[in-house]
Amino acid sequence: MKKVKLIFVAFILVACFINKIQAQVQGAESYRPQFHFSPKKGWMNDPNGMIFLNGKYHLFFQHNPNATTWGPMHWGHAISTDLVNWQEQKIALYPDSLGTIFSGSAVIDKNNTAGFGKNALVAVFTHHDHKVEESKSGLPAQHQSLAYSMDEGKTWTKYSGNPVLRSPGLQAFRDPKVMWYEADKQWIMTLATGGSATFYASKDLKSWNKVGEFGVGFGSPEGTWECPDLFSLPVNGGQKWVLLSSLSSGAPNGGSGTQYFVGQFDGNTFTPDHKDVRWIDYGTDNYAGITWSNTGERKIFIGWMNNWTYANVIPEQGWRGAATIARDLNLKQVGNEFYLTSLPVKELNGMTGKTNVIKNIQVKGDYDLSAKIAAFNGKFQLELATVVDESFSLQLGNRKGEMLIIGYDKANNNFYMDRSKSGLVSIPNNFAKNIIAPRIAKGSPVSLKLLLDASSAELFADEGLTVMTNTFFNSEPFNQLYIKTNKPVTIQKLKYSGIKN
Ligand code: FRU
Repeated sequence: MKKVKLIFVAFILVACFINKIQAQVQGAESYRPQFHFSPKKGWMNDPNGMIFLNGKYHLFFQHNPNATTWGPMHWGHAISTDLVNWQEQKIALYPDSLGTIFSGSAVIDKNNTAGFGKNALVAVFTHHDHKVEESKSGLPAQHQSLAYSMDEGKTWTKYSGNPVLRSPGLQAFRDPKVMWYEADKQWIMTLATGGSATFYASKDLKSWNKVGEFGVGFGSPEGTWECPDLFSLPVNGGQKWVLLSSLSSGAPNGGSGTQYFVGQFDGNTFTPDHKDVRWIDYGTDNYAGITWSNTGERKIFIGWMNNWTYANVIPEQGWRGAATIARDLNLKQVGNEFYLTSLPVKELNGMTGKTNVIKNIQVKGDYDLSAKIAAFNGKFQLELATVVDESFSLQLGNRKGEMLIIGYDKANNNFYMDRSKSGLVSIPNNFAKNIIAPRIAKGSPVSLKLLLDASSAELFADEGLTVMTNTFFNSEPFNQLYIKTNKPVTIQKLKYSGIKN
């Protein structure tokens, strides 16, 4: 009998212990997004080397597996068949005697130009030599290198002739994005070179020649250019080229952000159509994003949902950093100009639960949607379209009085997201603030798509012409939602859905 009692007490103790651990883990995971990629443990920054191969989307990423702050960079690896559900894999690339593994891209070498094998998956990345950098020798520490995989990225071999492109003397010489340029039957590498992007050409991925440079005197004047990306998009039966360049500082709402140019690429250099500065995302938390390789005409972008200005000090829960939702990029004409649009990939719809639709809501003052969204626990998508161009806001809140206010301000012709009372906001460098994005669409009724996933809000206004991604750290999910207006506003259609577990 005594033995039975003892077993019973031991059982209760074990159950309590498991419960406690579970509670801690749940608490510890409260910021973890459900339909965005985040690493199981450790730190992540830039997405890298994204490639579509045999039905699978590969996402590599800047990863420090041993700490939740930036440190010796590895390439982490995750795979998805739908761009939404990600399975983290073994680390792909580890630091070596030439340095740590900074950002870069990957291509399929269909014709075996490099000699690693037909259809080799080749990663082109920056080796960053910390020893050189720390020695204050003044010598450049960043060079471009190759690694290849013959088994869809499971195992990698670094090329014995690394590095393949040494810095000509620049400190910032990194983040190679490589594409096959069919017109000249050669590879083109777009590289971040201080305050510009430089284009290199190669027939074999191993020997590279400079063919052009773009950037001096263009775009935002602040910050180092990082993670450039050059790709074409179809427009009116033809095509235009888009150049992305992430800037380490000087973004519209502070810190780091990604600007873009629309123009022409002639095989050697890029010529923009416009002088004004444009941002792929006006929020504070979308950086170093680039597009997938090997997806044909479809261009899919993903960014790092963070900002260098506070990246290392936002709350961590054993992991720190996540990716944005994958987004389809397209060009849209407004007036005489072409602008980039970004919208969540349609694959996200496969992740959502039942879609609820409410039509013709007349709002004057407050319209309470809390009962509709409470069960989603801060993880849902919502779309709305107005019939007139009039100011309104969406106020998300919780029982603690924390709130995130998202709105359209007609008088100032902008969208905003005010996270100044969104929970934990005592994060340095002006985290607690109202984040503003200009409206690019002209005069038409406003449409919004909002994705909320635990600790991030992504707003796609006017079919993706104005985009904002912002993080927040609330102490409870936002389970309350009010639409607020001063003047009467008709919401023609409101759609909302939770995310499937
Ligand atoms: C951009 C960046 C890249 C660099 C990487 C290092 O966020 O600074 O330029 O390759 O991060 O982790």
